[in-house]
Amino acid sequence: MSQLFARKTVDQLTAALPPEGQGLRRVMGRWDLTALGVGAIIGAGIFATTGTAIAGELGVRPGAGPAIVLSFLLTAVTCGLAALCYAEFASMVPVSGSAYTYAYASLGELVAWIIGWDLIIEYAVGNIAVAISWSGYFRELVGHIGISFPAWMTTDYRTAFQAVEAVAAGASDPRSLELAAAATSAPEILGLPIILNIPAVLIVAAITMLLVYGIRESAFSNSILVVLKVGILMFFIAVGVFFIDPEHYTAHGGFAPNGFAGVRAAAAIIFFSYIGFDAVSCAAEEAKDPARDVPFGIIMSLVVCTVLFVLAAAVMSGMAEWSQLGTAEPMLTALNLASGNEALLGFSRVVVAIGAVVAMTTVLLVFQMGQPRIFYSMARDGLLPAWAAKLHPKFRTPHVTTIITGVFVAFFAAFANINEVVDLTNIGTLFAFAIVSIGILVLRVKEPDRVRLFCTPFSPVVPLLAAGSCVFLMLQLPTITWIRFGVWLAIGLVIYFLYGYKRSRMRGV
Ligand code: ALA
Repeated sequence: MSQLFARKTVDQLTAALPPEGQGLRRVMGRWDLTALGVGAIIGAGIFATTGTAIAGELGVRPGAGPAIVLSFLLTAVTCGLAALCYAEFASMVPVSGSAYTYAYASLGELVAWIIGWDLIIEYAVGNIAVAISWSGYFRELVGHIGISFPAWMTTDYRTAFQAVEAVAAGASDPRSLELAAAATSAPEILGLPIILNIPAVLIVAAITMLLVYGIRESAFSNSILVVLKVGILMFFIAVGVFFIDPEHYTAHGGFAPNGFAGVRAAAAIIFFSYIGFDAVSCAAEEAKDPARDVPFGIIMSLVVCTVLFVLAAAVMSGMAEWSQLGTAEPMLTALNLASGNEALLGFSRVVVAIGAVVAMTTVLLVFQMGQPRIFYSMARDGLLPAWAAKLHPKFRTPHVTTIITGVFVAFFAAFANINEVVDLTNIGTLFAFAIVSIGILVLRVKEPDRVRLFCTPFSPVVPLLAAGSCVFLMLQLPTITWIRFGVWLAIGLVIYFLYGYKRSRMRGV
């Protein structure tokens, strides 16, 4: 039993790093790391899930309405508390692998395995959602230049068949009609309609190739894309402000039409928008000065994004009646519903569509980069087969796991439904955040004298509040999400006892 909770000390973790010059390349400074965080954070969450969060889902959960700004603040506080815990770990354990490595150092091998397995949900499953959303905005964007895809190659079965039901029940908006047509006009194989999201598959394939090629190129292209997407989000805020009708904040049921129930349900959805600051910690072995720069990157990227999100949400919900914003492209919907200078609105729609595509491309890049690095750490510990830790002889990137991740993400992005994938990503990530926060407390007791270049303030209050608020948000997610999460963890435990438990390098078995 005690073997299951055997810990790797921080010294063991650092000693296991490959000698200078043989491991991953150390090329990233503090602003590269901040850009990496912002690159991971601003994406499908703000551009897509905000719609469902504001308007709610019929029969599933209430919307926040204009009180969405409170949801963004609530979630920012949760993430901020967890970010402080991540920062302390990152300053103390400058090893790639994020929450997985931290759990190994604090709570032992079994919990580390569970977290490593759980992080697949955050990184790979999260990327499935982003790829699906990327595809939606890409379709809108190329539509502006007259290119249109048949609907069956830009959606999934569930969405298409829900549209068929909606149309049968009387829906007649253009998007429902188009999606319903996807189900009836799709080509068939053996009588089965073929509905699959081809742009989502193609973008994942392109990102995978870029990452196999090399970290230096990826970090560079990421920084350029990040500057561009922050600029475009600021553009939406600056233009949108002129189209706010203050009536929208108070009419239609008031500022918080569904009270706190709506605010907290929305907070659990838009949690997806904030995921990503923790991905900075995956780059610890590629940072020039990880102990100082990784905490800086984590906290700075979260602060920047919180300000942008709260402003964007306030503007969006001021531009239209909240109940009409429940689309997969709420910013475009807000620009569509606003009235005034039509030329400016039309131009803004194109700019925002470009921004969303760019934003989500960088998210895909960072997450696709993080996942193989977690596998890399797990394989180095013997919990996964050795080939998962192999670096490409020329590019020095973990190419095998990069490609496996790419294939997994592309396959599910072709068929999955975005809302379900977002909920699953959120529950998995919140769970990881809660464990990391508890891990801080455990390590303070077990290794009290270790140098902490960054200390989580007001411990144990902050770590306890972080863990508690993560569990609170988890409880806002639908039951089916809990069931899926439970099944995923059960599969992980079986794999651990069949493989990792016997081969763990730390225990020398
Ligand atoms: N925060 C990331 C996004 O919004 C996952 O796309």
